[in-house]
Amino acid sequence: MDIPVKIAAVDFQVPETVITNDDLTKIIDTSDEWIRTRTGIERRHVLSGNESAVQMGILAAKKVVAKSKIDVEKIDYIIAPASVETHAYPSTACEIQAAIGAVNAACFDITAACSGLIYAMGIGRAFIKSGMAKNILLVATDAVSRCLDWTDRASCVLFGDGSGAMMLTVAEDGQDDILAVDLKAEGHYGDFIKMPIPGKNCPLVEPNEQEKMFVKMDGKEVYKYVVTKLPVYIEECVEKSGLKMSEIDYLIPHQANLRIIEALEKRLEFNPDNVISNIQEYANTSAASIPIALTEAIRSGKVKLPATAILTGFGAGMTVGTTVVRLREGIA
Ligand SMILES: CC(C)(COP(=O)(O)OP(=O)(O)OC[C@H]1O[C@@H](n2cnc3c(N)ncnc32)[C@H](O)[C@@H]1OP(=O)(O)O)[C@@H](O)C(=O)NCCC(=O)NCCS
Repeated sequence: MDIPVKIAAVDFQVPETVITNDDLTKIIDTSDEWIRTRTGIERRHVLSGNESAVQMGILAAKKVVAKSKIDVEKIDYIIAPASVETHAYPSTACEIQAAIGAVNAACFDITAACSGLIYAMGIGRAFIKSGMAKNILLVATDAVSRCLDWTDRASCVLFGDGSGAMMLTVAEDGQDDILAVDLKAEGHYGDFIKMPIPGKNCPLVEPNEQEKMFVKMDGKEVYKYVVTKLPVYIEECVEKSGLKMSEIDYLIPHQANLRIIEALEKRLEFNPDNVISNIQEYANTSAASIPIALTEAIRSGKVKLPATAILTGFGAGMTVGTTVVRLREGIA
């Protein structure tokens, strides 16, 4: 079977609390100038008090359910590219299911770090295309700010919190919105970005102390990897889609570093006006960054619909995910 897939809705949720680059100078030896010129980041939104990644995910999920007008009981799967700071299970997808009442959905999380939303789109698309499912809710949500070492200035300035959600469904009009998906992983670069969970032997076997888990990153290596490999992988995905690069209206990349985005723009010869970036406001929100950028760009009129676009993400693993999509009016 080759059932066409519709991107029915996209939306996001971010916490209200904002930390500026200047705020960070109170706790680490850094400057607004350093962060802006190296990354493009000016602010980031972070969780506070009892807020959580799951809560943000629930709010983003409710928005796309409402916008897509799909009955929650008709959702077949909830897939959450998520890593929450408090527990490995129950899955974030199950927690979202309970909160929104999607009683008939099977639920699971995936670990593909910042490529997670694109990986989830690949899985969701395959499930719908094969006739296995009709309605699939994707929710990317991470509490990155709670997994950072706030004394490590090389990593803590780069991230923020946020959730992004997308609803995939059967395209009754026959227009396939996801033209191609290309997923890659290169596990031999796994050391570039890590978040260790300090599982320890039973203290009766070996005395030990619990450590906290923190993101550890070799920023330089990540940078080199992405600017070298990502353009090639994007070109491969565009070729699969049957479109030419010149026929694609927008490039909507993962928001990790403005310099990476500008390098992609030049290498793929995109008009800067058609390359979407909102890293200034949110920093790197992991798998949520693409749906946040996509939704905001549609709402601000920067992305004019209908349109074709490349969505592309990369992250720990190393993983890379790219998709070429058609974006319909009314999705955001
Ligand atoms: C992290 C990153 C911004 C660093 O930029 P860079 O130009 O490579 O900077 P360097 O690592 O060469 O560091 C230069 C200097 O700045 C210092 N520095 C690092 N972080 C700093 C900060 N927040 N403020 C001020 N100085 C800082 C370093 O200690 C280093 O000092 P030294 O030369 O005295 O040793 C950049 O490598 C990057 O963005 N990489 C990609 C990371 C990424 O996208 N990760 C997520 C993937 S999903």
